Amino acid sequence: MPSSITRNLITGGAGFLGSHLCDRLMEDGEEVICLDNYFTGRKANILKWIGHPNFEIIRHDVTDPIKLEVDRIWHLACPASPVHYQFNPVKTAKTSFLGTYNMLGLARRVGARLLLASTSEVYGDPEVHPQPESYLGCVNPIGIRSCYDEGKRIAESLCFDYQRMHGLEVRIIRIFNTYGPRMLPDDGRVVSNFIVQALKGEPLTLYGDGIQSRSFCFVDDLIEGMIRLMNGSYSGPINIGNPEEFTIRQLGEKVRLLVNPSLPWINLPLPDDDPRQRQPDISLATRELGWSPSVTLDQGLLPTISWFRDLLGRNLA
Ligand SMILES: NC(=O)c1ccc[n+]([C@@H]2O[C@H](COP(=O)([O-])OP(=O)(O)OC[C@H]3O[C@@H](n4cnc5c(N)ncnc54)[C@H](O)[C@@H]3O)[C@@H](O)[C@H]2O)c1
Repeated sequence: MPSSITRNLITGGAGFLGSHLCDRLMEDGEEVICLDNYFTGRKANILKWIGHPNFEIIRHDVTDPIKLEVDRIWHLACPASPVHYQFNPVKTAKTSFLGTYNMLGLARRVGARLLLASTSEVYGDPEVHPQPESYLGCVNPIGIRSCYDEGKRIAESLCFDYQRMHGLEVRIIRIFNTYGPRMLPDDGRVVSNFIVQALKGEPLTLYGDGIQSRSFCFVDDLIEGMIRLMNGSYSGPINIGNPEEFTIRQLGEKVRLLVNPSLPWINLPLPDDDPRQRQPDISLATRELGWSPSVTLDQGLLPTISWFRDLLGRNLA
């Protein structure tokens, strides 16, 4: 018998953001199908829902089509950190293109609304600062990040072509750097790098001069923005991120202060194509979704550090 509860498919549901989204929708009493190939996702992230009648797990790769009956598709499946998406760049591009194509096909077949997790990386190394959604980007199509940046750009264009051609309901969120519990300790992202190094008592690695800037959004704020976008009528693309800007050195200083102020730095050269500055313009999100972040970097670092402390403690045990 058809149920009146919303049936959600979350691709990449065992990953960092996907598992927090699973938590939120499950806590709201909805049905969740968590689909993942476990490339960077972990069953531990969704362990607490296994056995719950509203929760199902499917091991599947989004580059292959799948048939399911769902109302909403939250399409997050794609490795997100450079170490993971550069591990097999051709696979990353396939995941973005074919994965999005397959999920759009599924959405069309069952009349589901689809939200694509896109990225601030579609702006490349921006000449405009901060970046509004109307900025078309400055992406190197042949660089080592292009499998990801260009992959997300074609994924966005596929979504809008499905909307124009088939009237599909799509939502596109452009996610800026997000951090929080359940990031992988070895994912090479700056927040997890600094925290893991500090907890292990190692020097903090600074790439370049450390004055390149980033904005850091706490995961709970991000998930709230994602849910508002899915529930609302605005298709996007829409930036979700925390506009407060910090240099990488300032972030490292905060982590040192919270974990171990006596740790030294080591300097390494900046990787190729690393953007100098990235900061969201969130005026559209504020206007269309009534959304703005509420967790400061100091507040968000505390639960993140304590989660990594537990994880490293368990691994060492
Ligand atoms: N975390 C961020 O700061 C950030 C920033 C911008 C965009 N995003 C986007 O948000 C989404 C989730 O990112 P995350 O930070 O949770 O990363 P993550 O690596 O933790 O999660 C990605 C999930 O997708 C799964 N996956 C990868 N390839 C797959 C495939 N072919 N088939 C099925 N599952 C697959 C992984 O196993 C993992 O569980 C990604 O699409 C990413 O591009 C994240």
